[in-house]
Amino acid sequence: MKNIILTGYMGCGKTTVGQRLAERIGYVFADTDGLIEKEQGRSISDIFAQDGEQTFRAMETALLNKALCDGKDGLVIATGGGLPVRAENRELIKRLGTVVYLRVKPETVYERVKGDTSRPLLQCENPLERIKGMLLQRSPAYETADFIIDADSLSPEEAAAEIEECLKWKGSAKS
Ligand code: S3P
Repeated sequence: MKNIILTGYMGCGKTTVGQRLAERIGYVFADTDGLIEKEQGRSISDIFAQDGEQTFRAMETALLNKALCDGKDGLVIATGGGLPVRAENRELIKRLGTVVYLRVKPETVYERVKGDTSRPLLQCENPLERIKGMLLQRSPAYETADFIIDADSLSPEEAAAEIEECLKWKGSAKS
């Protein structure tokens, strides 16, 4: 048993799908944003505003290193949308387990996150353009995942079921 790591852009459903997946396969759900907020005792928005994005990125890397050192196992981990952008983090999540990218279109993201003020990187004049640009830039990093799920038209349960199928396939392909 190792971990399942869910990656993807903001609003792709990592948290909801991750919770469903964890229930289905009997793993424990964790999310990097939530763990950082708990450890820091402040919100992601406050961390960005007070210490800047790079400090937040260093916290993400430190968290992954700690999970590896602790030999964490049996977790479904939802990651912050920017986490796989750092090459070091991509290496760390591969070592932690199977990486699954939940891919969604910019328009899907926009519909899901508009009006949400908790994501500092999307507090701008034209969020849809920002989303399109960031997705284009980040796609190569996301696409290094072991599996890619096109999640635009899937319910969280359907996406979780699809991931479960991929994991079964991976299991049998190995044996
Ligand atoms: C970020 C995504 C957020 C959070 C932070 C930065 C990003 O997580 O880590 O606001 O750079 O894409 P979610 O993907 O869970 O919204």
